[in-house]
Amino acid sequence: MSSCKFTAAAALAAAVHLAPASAQDVSFGDRLFHDKADCQFCHGPEAQGIGKFPRLGGQSYYFLKRRLENWNEGYETIAPHMPGIAALLKPDEIEAVASYLSFVPPAPSKGEF
Ligand code: HEC
Repeated sequence: MSSCKFTAAAALAAAVHLAPASAQDVSFGDRLFHDKADCQFCHGPEAQGIGKFPRLGGQSYYFLKRRLENWNEGYETIAPHMPGIAALLKPDEIEAVASYLSFVPPAPSKGEF
């Protein structure tokens, strides 16, 4: 019964966010972002970005995944920090962290210019 509910929820989430996400992916990605890979120190604990570090929360799954894969494949090697960081992530970790981030809602604008 519970697995049935889970499947329906995952299918709905995937349809809404266009991300092939499962609940496991999202919680694994949450842990990667906050604990294992220290992404939060540059991108912010809520993934909203800090200064020159871009916001990741609420970006599309495929955009985030592609960016990380490209760095991992050696594209854009002059970008600061990320090529070396992306190289630490395995393909399933890239998918998990991209899934998690695509579900983080973007913060409302503070009206700053
Ligand atoms: C040392 C600081 C630092 C850490 C730690 C860090 N990042 Fe970044 N990240 C950056 C910077 C700087 C950029 C902008 C690079 C550019 O566009 O040239 C960036 C860009 C990105 C982008 C592309 C966003 C966009 O809008 O193009 C993604 C995706 C990303 N980081 C994911 C991650 C993930 C996932 C982690 C943890 C595994 C992480 N980052 C850890 C500094 C960091």
